Amino acid sequence: MGKFISFEGGEGSGKSTQWQRLAQALEARGLPVLATREPGGTPAGAAIRRLLLTPEGTALDPLAELLLYAADRAHHVQQVLLPALQEGKWVLCDRYQDSTTVYQGLVRGIPADRIQALAQWTTEGLQPHLTFLLDLPPEIGLQRSKSRLAAEKSGEDRFEQEAIEFHQKVRAGFLKLAQQEPKRFVILDATQDMTTLHQKILQRVEAFS
Ligand code: TYD
Repeated sequence: MGKFISFEGGEGSGKSTQWQRLAQALEARGLPVLATREPGGTPAGAAIRRLLLTPEGTALDPLAELLLYAADRAHHVQQVLLPALQEGKWVLCDRYQDSTTVYQGLVRGIPADRIQALAQWTTEGLQPHLTFLLDLPPEIGLQRSKSRLAAEKSGEDRFEQEAIEFHQKVRAGFLKLAQQEPKRFVILDATQDMTTLHQKILQRVEAFS
C-alpha cells in the first residue's frame, strides 16, 4: 500500500499551493506520486464540481449538496485513490472526507451520525495516513482568495460569498477535528510564508516515510 496524505483548510489558506509543491518535491526524489483533489478528481467529478461550485449550486438543499460531494468521493475512491494506493503511490489529495464533516456537518448542520454513516459508505473506511490542516484567520484567507478568483474568473465563488461567520465556523470545525485526531492531523499556521510552510510539510513527510 502507498501513502495517503490530505490537505485541508478554509478558503485562501494556501493548501492547494502546498499540495502542488509537495507533489513536485516527492516527484523530484523519484517517488511515484498521484496528486488529485475533491471535488473534481475524475471527469465525472469535474461535472459534479461545476454543479456544486457555480451559482446554480446555491439553490441546493443541504442534503442534496452532501450527496453530491459523497457521489464525487465514492467515484474518486474507487476509480482513483484505491487503485493508486494499491500500486504503492504517494497519493496527495486536496480536500477529502474532513471537508464534508466540517462544511456539510458542523457548518451546515447535518447530524454527525448521518455524515459518519455516509462516510463509511463512500470511503469504505479509507482514511488519510496524514492530514495537513492549513489554519488561518478567515479575514486573511478571504482576502487572498478574492484576489485569486478575480484573476482566474472561474466563477467558483459560491463559498467565498458566504458570511464571515460561516468561515469562522469552518475554521473552528477543522480545529475541532484536528484536536480529536492529533496523530493524523498536523496543524500549520498558514500565515507563515509559502517556503517555510513547504519545508515544515516536507520535514513531517520525511519523518513519516
Ligand atoms: P476547493 O477546490 O478546495 O476550493 P478552495 O481551494 O477555494 O478552498 O474546494 C471547493 C469548495 O468545496 C470549498 O469551498 C469547500 C467545499 N467542499 C465542501 O463543502 N465539502 C466537501 O466535501 C469538499 C471536498 C469541498
